[in-house]
Amino acid sequence: KIIVLDFGSQYNQLITRRLRDFGIYSELLSHKLTANDIKKINPKGIIFSGGPNSVYDPNAFKVDPEIFKLGIPILGICYGMQLMSYDLGGKVEKADNSEYGRADIEVVDDNAVLFNGLPKKQYVWMSHGDLVTKAPAGFTVTATSKNCPIASIADNDRKFYGVQFHPEVRNSEYGLDILRRFAFDVCGAQANWTMDDFIDMQIDEIRQEVGDKKVILGLSGGVDSSVTAVLIHKAIGDQLTCIFVDHGLLRKNEANQVMDALSRDLGVNIVKVDAADRFLGKLAGVTDPEQKRKIIGKEFIEVFNEEAKKIKDADFLAQGTLYTDVIESGTDTAQTIKSHHNVGGLPKELGFKLIEPLRKLFKDETRELGEKLGIPHELVWRQPFPGPGLGIRVIGEITPEKLEIVRESDAILRDEIKKAGLDEKIWQYFTVLPGIRSVGVMGDGRTYDYAVAIRAVTSIDGMTADFAKIPWDVLQRISVRIVNEVDHVNRILYDVTSKPPSTIEYE
Ligand code: XMP
Repeated sequence: KIIVLDFGSQYNQLITRRLRDFGIYSELLSHKLTANDIKKINPKGIIFSGGPNSVYDPNAFKVDPEIFKLGIPILGICYGMQLMSYDLGGKVEKADNSEYGRADIEVVDDNAVLFNGLPKKQYVWMSHGDLVTKAPAGFTVTATSKNCPIASIADNDRKFYGVQFHPEVRNSEYGLDILRRFAFDVCGAQANWTMDDFIDMQIDEIRQEVGDKKVILGLSGGVDSSVTAVLIHKAIGDQLTCIFVDHGLLRKNEANQVMDALSRDLGVNIVKVDAADRFLGKLAGVTDPEQKRKIIGKEFIEVFNEEAKKIKDADFLAQGTLYTDVIESGTDTAQTIKSHHNVGGLPKELGFKLIEPLRKLFKDETRELGEKLGIPHELVWRQPFPGPGLGIRVIGEITPEKLEIVRESDAILRDEIKKAGLDEKIWQYFTVLPGIRSVGVMGDGRTYDYAVAIRAVTSIDGMTADFAKIPWDVLQRISVRIVNEVDHVNRILYDVTSKPPSTIEYE
């Protein structure tokens, strides 16, 4: 395996992700590890990640200098390269122009291992305020750019390498090739790691941690908590109890699908609480979006708590936290981008020890893991669905009648999108009930009924999105079916705004 030491870059887990994609086991570990700790782990290579610090900051993250004596190859990325240079006697200075974005580099050393066989001129992604201005003794400069004369350095004898740019991001043209050369050619790692190994490792870890104690898990019905449930069940069987709080705001048939797949087919121990009436009761008369979200979140915790109390001597609480949730909420080293909000997220005060076996994974890795564990493809590859569910797709006050309209129209939309073969092409698609009514004519009569809006977007991560261009004939089928099959709907609207300026959801 190759370990990545964490100096706080937002991209750091992406490095481990790339290595896992190559088939090499990789983990992100604290920069506080000592040379001795690392010796025990015995990695084939070490990568120092980037980070927001300058080596001159009083609180700059450091490494144990003994690490440089272990004889293990090291690649320093961005801050990692600056730190290595500084520690080994090179010079680091504030850049005249801090650089952010695309830069063109030129490889200036024919023997540069990391660039072996790659074009001499290539573009990379830079993001830094400091620069290495003098390479430490023993190093040669292997690549340069206009604003960064020392863009890459190498000491082939000690197998120490540094790149000022970020090879792990897609905006570096040959970044993945550079990482590959470090991992395979320099470190001699082998591509023999698979998701099955991850499952085995996690099962071992969970068993060791839990022993003969009990674990509870709040199942929201979503992908992350479902995969977590099945993984932990595989490790400890019925020592795990899942509490599935059905708030009545899930999509048509969704609760049943989850129960069938997890409980009936895979044998996971699930206590399902049908709390729809209770949630609807609390939401009655509430129109403010934030208040609706708060009520749903709070109620989820209360229902969960009441059930959890009935399970005696549970020491552990399992959660489907993913890497992106961890990084967005801030870590020891990374700055907070936004506080993670999820209905399945339970507060720390509950007094349990946490188990979060997915916290190193990205969403698509989680889906792959879910399929490997036997959860059906359709369930694992469901589009994103917000914790507050259909509750934020009925604009304003939620009533059973309105909820029924979004639930039924959403089911028809999903059915037609799937039939048209678009279900894995459009990132997210759903219907919304804006609550406006308008005049229509059906048969010989005048109607005064609801309009339903169709929201469909393409996106990579939900941060930005484009409205999806669903073909007219598909839209027409959807429109005809919803108006015919769902009571009290006489008009269909198609949302043609992107994010920004809109958001994906309406509330
Ligand atoms: P917006 O509406 O902010 O949504 O453009 C971006 C993505 O996040 C999802 N979303 C949520 N997911 N809990 C979640 O787990 C929530 O409270 C929540 N609110 C929005 C939304 O569906 C979209 O994919």
